[in-house]
Amino acid sequence: MKGCLVSVGSVVAYLENGWVAAIWNVVAVATICPSHDRAKQDTLTASKLTQSVCRSPNLAENSPAVPVSTTRFDVALLPAAAEPLEDTVVVVVDVLRATTTIVSALANGAAEVIPAPSVEAARELHQQMGAGSIIGGERQGKIVDGFHQGNSPVEYTPEVVSGKRLILATTNGTVAMEQCRAARAVIIGAMVNVDAVAERVYAEQKVCVMCSGTDRIITSEDVCFAGLLMQRIVQKRVAADLESPFLTDAATIALDHWQSVERQVEDGTPLADFFRAARGGINLVRIGHDADIVFASTIDSFTSVPVLDLEKWTIA
Ligand code: MLT
Repeated sequence: MKGCLVSVGSVVAYLENGWVAAIWNVVAVATICPSHDRAKQDTLTASKLTQSVCRSPNLAENSPAVPVSTTRFDVALLPAAAEPLEDTVVVVVDVLRATTTIVSALANGAAEVIPAPSVEAARELHQQMGAGSIIGGERQGKIVDGFHQGNSPVEYTPEVVSGKRLILATTNGTVAMEQCRAARAVIIGAMVNVDAVAERVYAEQKVCVMCSGTDRIITSEDVCFAGLLMQRIVQKRVAADLESPFLTDAATIALDHWQSVERQVEDGTPLADFFRAARGGINLVRIGHDADIVFASTIDSFTSVPVLDLEKWTIA
């Protein structure tokens, strides 16, 4: 055999007779085929798929065959892992449940959501805002004493939330938002609105998905969202004939994780089963919130893209 396959993470390089062709993550990207857009995906040529992600400009200097990108699509697997966020559009995610609840509450008519970093801060804000505001959130998944609502996306019905300002204090999601104050823009993402979020960010230069995690530990459902978002971003960029995006190692890990879950979902395992087995999901099942997991695992049930106004600190 004249050539050999060298695999380092997602980098596959085929070496033969001095000729070097490096393909970044081609195996992963070649399997990208979300059902909502399968027809469009099928029309993409193989060569476009191989070029659909690429290495960083400095790596490419030594590998002329590798496409160069000025973009950077990153994933912070936990808030503490985030790199400096200046110039970056951040997508905050807490699938179980804060960001799913925010998407749901706004779609059901909440005037705005004010993320609070603590229970005490939420109570204080409610005192200042008075009538017209409600206070929601959780500790260990359960409603906080004296709060109007918990953190369940299904409880924020139009009757509860329409026209109200919702002050929300959760253990992980609203705390993660505090880490985003230096970002260029902050968007609220969840499985329920992933395609709308992808549509909003795919043409950006620098994007970071900030996974909230559960109690400072990485959670599968947030990484699934990050991977699915990366998949949709790559697909949309290819379809729009945009420059190949550079995915960081963490973004590639998230994409690989999602594609592994996706294959099993296509074979008949409900996505909710994966979330039930994740750290936050186990607790939600234990305290009787299985319906929230089903709600949160429904992909693309909303088309809205909530944005956190960094000056007013409100989400609308
Ligand atoms: C959080 O933000 O901490 C989570 O959404 C917790 C939960 O409600 O299960």
